Amino acid sequence: MNSVKWFIRILLMFFLSHFSFAADTITLDHFIQDNNDEVIVSAGNIFALGFFSPATSTTNRYVGIWYYQIPVKTVIWVANRDNPINDASGILRIDARGNLALFQGNQTLPVWSTNISTAGSGNSFAQILDSGNLVLLQNDTGKELLWQSFGHPTNTWLSHMKIGFNLRTGLNQSYTSWKSPDDPGVGNYTFRMNPGVSPQMVLYKGSVPVWRSGTWTGKMWSGIPEMAQNFLFNDTFVDTDDELSFSSDTISASLITRYVTNETGVTQRILWNNASQSWSISYTAPNEQCDFYGHCGPNGCSLKWKRNSCEKTI
Ligand SMILES: *[C@@H]1O[C@H](CO)[C@@H](O)[C@H](O)[C@H]1NC(C)=O
Ligand SMILES: *[C@@H]1O[C@H](CO)[C@@H](O)[C@H](O)[C@H]1NC(C)=O
Ligand SMILES: *[C@@H]1O[C@H](CO)[C@@H](O)[C@H](O)[C@H]1NC(C)=O
Ligand SMILES: *[C@@H]1O[C@H](CO)[C@@H](O)[C@H](O)[C@H]1NC(C)=O
Ligand SMILES: *[C@@H]1O[C@H](CO)[C@@H](O)[C@H](O)[C@H]1NC(C)=O
Ligand SMILES: *[C@@H]1O[C@H](CO)[C@@H](O)[C@H](O)[C@H]1NC(C)=O
Ligand SMILES: *[C@@H]1O[C@H](CO)[C@@H](O)[C@H](O)[C@H]1NC(C)=O
Ligand SMILES: *[C@@H]1O[C@H](CO)[C@@H](O)[C@H](O)[C@H]1NC(C)=O
Repeated sequence: MNSVKWFIRILLMFFLSHFSFAADTITLDHFIQDNNDEVIVSAGNIFALGFFSPATSTTNRYVGIWYYQIPVKTVIWVANRDNPINDASGILRIDARGNLALFQGNQTLPVWSTNISTAGSGNSFAQILDSGNLVLLQNDTGKELLWQSFGHPTNTWLSHMKIGFNLRTGLNQSYTSWKSPDDPGVGNYTFRMNPGVSPQMVLYKGSVPVWRSGTWTGKMWSGIPEMAQNFLFNDTFVDTDDELSFSSDTISASLITRYVTNETGVTQRILWNNASQSWSISYTAPNEQCDFYGHCGPNGCSLKWKRNSCEKTI
């Protein structure tokens, strides 16, 4: 009798953990709780959203997104990056205003929220997509997009994310390092688009530029000659009245890649190597002495230059 009960219980647990909790949405009825280790997983099992601690040395809890199938826990987005929860009482749910909000236990003020005024009154839901984007959608026929994590990046720039500005929507999108491997809080290094006559991508330390991409040649950034041999990425530079942006999307969905603005002061493109089951760095900026802003005088690396020297070739 007892063993039958146990069997049913285990079956039920299996059922719940596989079919109920692993859904890709958070709705009014379905929230996730840290103390139950609950996550939501994108439809194709690519990304998961849940609670994590960045390192074993801290008990701080954050809501983040990571690759679901990659054994090395790799967080690509953090919700409450500057407001950790110091216990396992976190609950991520749709609040009464229809926002996705993170609460510590039963406190009434959220630790973090999508915080938009047009979210409606609970008639919305959040969904994690295979692209790594967390979206808040209106549950109506049009499934209107209310908010997306791709519009609020942390330190990671993925395929189909942009860097730059949308003057119509007021979007001003940049990527800022963590404080340290233990602390996803807003750090000192920011990778962003500099507007102006000749827009460039610039890595800043605080307000000081430490690297710049050079100007757009129509095909590549003049300071990134590696881009000339690009067969893997669809690089798109948009410079219109409405928008100034750059994106670099993988052509093949099987190529897992991300850009990270690292707390060590570099921006890197990192690829997943399935054979070795590890990440490998495919591009680093600044990558050579000559790359550092100002090292070669005011024109630095925005002109063609010889590797390992500051001698300009034009
Ligand atoms: C959307 O609304 C319908 C009708 O109220 C409901 O049945 C469904 O569960 C909702 N879906 C989500 C994802 O909230
Ligand atoms: C939160 O829950 C705890 C335990 O269930 C209870 O003691 C406390 O009064 C609650 N606090 C609020 C603000 O509801
Ligand atoms: C939500 O936005 C309002 C106004 O923009 C701001 O005052 C408030 O602090 C924000 N709340 C959260 C939880 O981010
Ligand atoms: C974008 O935001 C940064 C700070 O986050 C600010 O320094 C910069 O001036 C903004 N740019 C525009 C065009 O709004
Ligand atoms: C950021 O830079 C300031 C000034 O250089 C420094 O005091 C601070 O420790 C740095 N913060 C981090 C997280 O590295
Ligand atoms: C490259 O990206 C642009 C903008 O996102 C898109 O319009 C275009 O179809 C893409 N091209 C390819 C070959 O994927
Ligand atoms: C930053 O770079 C260091 C050294 O290469 C590495 O150990 C760390 O994991 C990187 N951090 C991120 C967020 O990728
Ligand atoms: C990754 O490698 C494993 C074996 O290590 C293999 O079974 C799997 O098919 C590979 N996946 C891809 C996308 O190549």
